[in-house]
Amino acid sequence: MPLELQWTVDERIDGLEALLAHVCACCFALEGVQNAGMTVRIASAEEVHALNRDMRGIDRETDVLSFPTASFHPGRTAGKDPKRVRRQYDPALGWCNLGDCVISLARAREQAREYGHSLAREIGYLTAHSAFHLMGYDHENPADHAAMRAMEEHAMEMASLSRTEEKPMTDQQLFDMACQAMERSYSPYSHFKVGACLLSSDGRTFQGCNIENASYGAAICAERCAVSRAVSEGARSFTAIAVVGSDSQAWPCGICRQVLNEFSDNMRVICGQYGHGFEVVPLAELLPRSFGPENLGIQEDKHGE
Ligand code: THU
Repeated sequence: MPLELQWTVDERIDGLEALLAHVCACCFALEGVQNAGMTVRIASAEEVHALNRDMRGIDRETDVLSFPTASFHPGRTAGKDPKRVRRQYDPALGWCNLGDCVISLARAREQAREYGHSLAREIGYLTAHSAFHLMGYDHENPADHAAMRAMEEHAMEMASLSRTEEKPMTDQQLFDMACQAMERSYSPYSHFKVGACLLSSDGRTFQGCNIENASYGAAICAERCAVSRAVSEGARSFTAIAVVGSDSQAWPCGICRQVLNEFSDNMRVICGQYGHGFEVVPLAELLPRSFGPENLGIQEDKHGE
């Protein structure tokens, strides 16, 4: 993982480490830098203020601070100077540590509210901003500013955190994305294609398709394919799923209903047939009187460790 996440506040944000690791990986990949990483510290507003004052001589609060380990020649960024990147290799970490980023949780929360997007998206953006600083980008003049912004936006898109993707998805959009995923179905045995698109609470979408196997029992449904992708990217709480079948309306099978129930408080299930309309029902209607994490005492934080 190209990231070390530190917390100096008591609060924790579910799934943040995986999300930020993904954001960092996108930033480094875009720059073409290999085996690089960074430290991200989630801190209080007071801690960030004190660091800004003591380390930079600026006596005020801010949202994010970056402390690079390497300095690059003006006009050259990390991608153009792999030697300098390699010099930051830390054997204990196993990657080249390009520096530290310190984020004020309180400021991130305020800014998320201001922009109308999730806290995870805001922290993701601040991390990307810092990652580019650590790689030698700056915003001192308009040309540099534009170049840095372009990289940030590109990285956010790559990490599926761009603003446009954060606009609440409509059921029709989710259904259309399920149809798109259905085209990638691997179903040479049943010839029944299924596509799914899952919406996570932080606004990200995850597509999936059914993947069959010569050993029939090894097949995976489109819904669980989408869930596997989402959970492995750090998302564990879902508000909707769209499912489409090629030859008939594909209601989630029993196993998928159970798996969806694990990660949702009664999500919307948008279900239809390709080329036809769809119906929307709450999961509880498909799986009444369910058995879930709460039965095993996992109540307070259904989606936690
Ligand atoms: N299938 C799904 O992808 N989701 C469901 O909920 C029901 C069934 C797939 C599995 C298999 O590849 C094909 O449909 C026929 O059973």
